[in-house]
Amino acid sequence: MSEFVRVASVSEIPDPGKAMFEVDERLVVVVHVDGQFHCIDDVCTHDGGPLGDGELCGHELACPRHGAKFDVRTGKALTMPATEPTARHEVKVEGDDVLVKLSSES
Ligand code: FES
Repeated sequence: MSEFVRVASVSEIPDPGKAMFEVDERLVVVVHVDGQFHCIDDVCTHDGGPLGDGELCGHELACPRHGAKFDVRTGKALTMPATEPTARHEVKVEGDDVLVKLSSES
């Protein structure tokens, strides 16, 4: 079972901003927006694009390959060509530490 893993300090991810991390050999992107942190897989469900390299606009993160947008709060695909959600992971802040817990979603 996965546990929370420290990935960064709060100050290392600007608001708004994002950063990519590898947690247990899984690539994830942590997004900081409106004072909240969110975490989703760094993988677009259309064709594997690196979401962490995409443009962040509010809570929407656009895939740099073909432009599908995902809601960073839920992982839901908002626009074509992606139709399936990407995995969402739990994030919490303890003191100055940002911690991520991988979900069991694939
Ligand atoms: S790989 Fe992301 S939209 Fe195509």
